Order: sequence, then structure tokens, then C-alpha cells
Amino acid sequence: MRTLKFKDGDQMPAVGLGTWKSEPKMVENAVEHALNNGYRHIDCAAIYGNENEVGNAFKKVFDGGKVKREDVWVTSKLWNNSHKKEDVIPALKQTLKDLQLDYLDLYLIHWPVAFSPDVKFPEKDEEFLSLDEVPLSETWEAMLEAKKQGLVKHVGVSNFSATKLEQLRKETTYMPEMNQVELHPYLQQNNLLQYCSEHGVNVTAYSPLGSGDRTEDMKADDEPILLKNDVIEKIAKKHNASPAQILIKWAELRGTAVIPKSTNEGRIEQNLQSVGYELDKEDMKQISELDKHYRYVKGDAQFVTKGNSYENIFDE
Ligand code: A2P
Repeated sequence: MRTLKFKDGDQMPAVGLGTWKSEPKMVENAVEHALNNGYRHIDCAAIYGNENEVGNAFKKVFDGGKVKREDVWVTSKLWNNSHKKEDVIPALKQTLKDLQLDYLDLYLIHWPVAFSPDVKFPEKDEEFLSLDEVPLSETWEAMLEAKKQGLVKHVGVSNFSATKLEQLRKETTYMPEMNQVELHPYLQQNNLLQYCSEHGVNVTAYSPLGSGDRTEDMKADDEPILLKNDVIEKIAKKHNASPAQILIKWAELRGTAVIPKSTNEGRIEQNLQSVGYELDKEDMKQISELDKHYRYVKGDAQFVTKGNSYENIFDE
């Protein structure tokens, strides 16, 4: 499988297992099945509410001895209520405890949005902290300290626009090593990819299959269903693959990492098998024409109040 390279020589397997929306009671088996069937990259986050169960799977598999901790790339993310510099390392230590690990391969600032420390999901304006109160550079410096202490090997961000990356570049001494963002044929974000490539920032594609299992309040009534797109279905048929496999292969061929979520054993296996397919120039051209800048994960449902708009999360 293709890997993403980091400056110190570390390599992250391009295809990983996503765990957002994976029910706690399902995720343990999903991670165990994935690791026992060739996955070497698991993507987690504190706010997914299932790191305990993911940790149980890690313990079982690593204790079993067939897969070694150092052969698996584990990513997790700092939630928005721990952005103050004194809160970052305690939040990271909780994640390490839940995951039953002594280091992470990659730790990301989950969103460029800060909440009061005791608020998981704000309901009122007062429950947000503005970026003047807790600048992203403050959170970022604490992430760098976590790296210095050896708690994480690499640090990065998620849901950052090129504008916010550029701000960090100017205000701090060290560029994020990763930006994890929503990416799929309906939201190709070529300019952001170009910026990241120019500045040595690796990119991970989340919601690569369109995240059809989001809760109803996160879905627009008229949203397009990526896995049922005619062009994707036609290309899938041509290669004797599934639409999901085409979407995963497309992400991999663009040079990004990609983290399809599944808790179904067959689909977990199928998604990793996507690396064995090839797409030709014509397939890539047809998929490139599907871009319509459509976000499934708008952020607004969770984060938008007067002081915090869709525009200033994504800078668009
Ligand atoms: P399930 O967990 O039952 O397999 P995303 O990664 O974009 O967030 O998408 C996750 C959604 O896609 C989940 O509903 C997941 O369901 C579904 N899914 C994962 N793999 C496949 C696949 N190979 N074919 C169809 N649906 C899939």
C-alpha cells in the first residue's frame, strides 16, 4: 500500500479505518477485525465517545502478539473544549489512557473552534471561547510541547483552511504535519491540497464515502448520495469493484490518506482491498468533473452561533 511520508522518515499507511460514528459496542470488534485483516492505520478522536472500546481492541490484538504496536499508525484528536494551553496535555493523556497506549503516532487539533472547558457541545454563545481568547497558536504550541515530551510522534490539525494554516505558519515555528479534512469527489478542495503540498503538509480525507450514517440533524434534506453517483457506479462496474472501492482508490491516487469508516466485517475487508484496483486517466477525469464543493460535514449544526459562522470556520 502507498504510504504518506513524514520528514523524520516515518510512514503512514494511506488507507486506515475510520471510527467516527462507530457505536461503542461495535467498534471493538471492528478495530480487532481490521487489525487482524491487514489494516495498520486506525483513526480515532476523543469526541467519538468510543476510545475506551478502541483501546480494548488494541490491548487484545497487541497482547495477542501477531500485530505489534509499533507497526500500527494511531491518530487521535483534541476536542474543542481543551484548547487552552494547560488543557491540551491532560486531554491527550486521557486519550492515551482510554486507548491503552503510551504514545500516539499523530495528534490533531480537531476543529479551529474553541469551547469552554466544561462544554462538549455548546448551545449558547457564551459557551464558546473566541479565537482572540484562545488563539490557535496557543493550542498549537501546547501540541508541540506534547511532541517534545514524546507523548505523540507527529502533530497536525483537522478542518483547517489554507488561511488558518497560513496564519499558523506565520505565528509559530513549526508547520502542522497533517491536515485532516472532508474530501471526496463532491468536495475535492484542489486549492487546499495545492497549498498543503507546497508547504509539506500531508492530507487525510475524511467522509470519503459521504458519511451516510450521520445523524438526521447533520443531514440536509436534499443531499446527494455519493455512493449512488452514476459516474462512480459506472466506473465501479467497469473495474468489477464496488463504488466504495472506487472512492477509496481515488483518494489514495490523489496522494491523500483516506479513512473509510465501517463496523461491518465484510465492508472493512472490502475497503482495504481497494488498494488492489487501478483507475485510468479517463476514470480520474470523469471523477474530477463531479466536484461541486458540497460539504456533508458543515460544522454549522454543531458550532455556529453569532460569533462563529460557517464562513469563519472554513474561510469561504
Ligand atoms: P457500515 O459501517 O455499516 O459499513 P464515511 O467513511 O464516509 O464516514 O462513510 C461511512 C458510511 O459508509 C457508513 O454508513 C458505513 O456503513 C458505509 N460503508 C462503509 N464501507 C462501505 C462499503 N464498502 N460499501 C457501502 N457502504 C459502506
